[in-house]
Amino acid sequence: MEFLAYFAKLLILVFLVSKAIQADGDLEPTAIKPRILNGREAARGQFPYQVSVRVGGQHSCGGSIISQTFVVTAAHCVYSIPPSFLTILAGTTNRTADSVIKDVVQVIPHPEFTAYDNDIALLKLNDSLQFNDVIQPIPLAAVDAPVDAPVTISGWGRTKEGGEITSQLMYNKYMKTLSPENCAKNIGYNTTAILCLSKIIGNGICEGDDGGPAVYRGILIGVASFHINDCYSTNKPNGFANVSHFNSWLTQAQICNP
Ligand SMILES: *[C@@H]1O[C@H](CO)[C@@H](O)[C@H](O)[C@H]1NC(C)=O
Ligand SMILES: *[C@@H]1O[C@H](CO)[C@@H](O)[C@H](O)[C@H]1NC(C)=O
Ligand SMILES: *[C@@H]1O[C@H](CO)[C@@H](O)[C@H](O)[C@H]1NC(C)=O
Ligand SMILES: *[C@@H]1O[C@H](CO)[C@@H](O)[C@H](O)[C@H]1NC(C)=O
Repeated sequence: MEFLAYFAKLLILVFLVSKAIQADGDLEPTAIKPRILNGREAARGQFPYQVSVRVGGQHSCGGSIISQTFVVTAAHCVYSIPPSFLTILAGTTNRTADSVIKDVVQVIPHPEFTAYDNDIALLKLNDSLQFNDVIQPIPLAAVDAPVDAPVTISGWGRTKEGGEITSQLMYNKYMKTLSPENCAKNIGYNTTAILCLSKIIGNGICEGDDGGPAVYRGILIGVASFHINDCYSTNKPNGFANVSHFNSWLTQAQICNP
């Protein structure tokens, strides 16, 4: 099971690197693998929409609850994996706690997902989540956050280069939205499907955070997709699927798969 997840992530890495080379010779295309760096430990119920997406019972990626039966995550986390291998863990900041676990019955990747383009997917759960103080949906962005707005990211990914994924959910409030122009310049690719969040060295997402939420004022604006170079030593922005761009697809896909 872990092999499948790893393979899926490896594949996207290769795509990303070759795309980066084609797009911009100035980019240094080394590792592009999605952790929360310099984060703080989340309190119980602070991120009630955050889930762990599991492959064979092991944490693979982050995800966000958007309704009682749907979770949104990154397509590269799940697109090649049979639903029967996938579960989600909700209602806890402790990745190894016995909390609420639901089976995934359907994986709905964006139909135009290729590498990091359209890197967004829905997971349909077999059974409705009961909402309470630690399990809540998050609204999807319908409009854009302003440029240079503070964004909160969260996840169980690595907290230092080459480190382990964490057992406690971590978060960081110091990412900022970049303008589409600046985003295009930094990633060498001009598309409204990708939202860049600027970071300082030592902040941002790392392996195991991908698929997880980027939130502005209680609204889901991004789904963690990739980072450029290694996680830690770069101040290059992180890439997220731009939720406002996918708002109508996300709404339609839920209606079409009741
Ligand atoms: C997380 O859950 C595991 C399994 O229940 C438990 O052993 C561990 O002590 C918990 N960690 C924290 C920090 O509560
Ligand atoms: C759905 O979940 C219920 C309860 O957790 C379980 O008994 C059932 O077998 C699951 N069904 C599928 C199709 O996974
Ligand atoms: C990106 O594309 C848009 C629309 O096609 C265009 O208006 C804009 O100038 C482009 N930006 C860059 C940095 O190339
Ligand atoms: C996100 O998508 C919206 C809607 O398509 C678009 O207006 C906005 O410019 C996009 N954001 C970025 C950073 O490209």
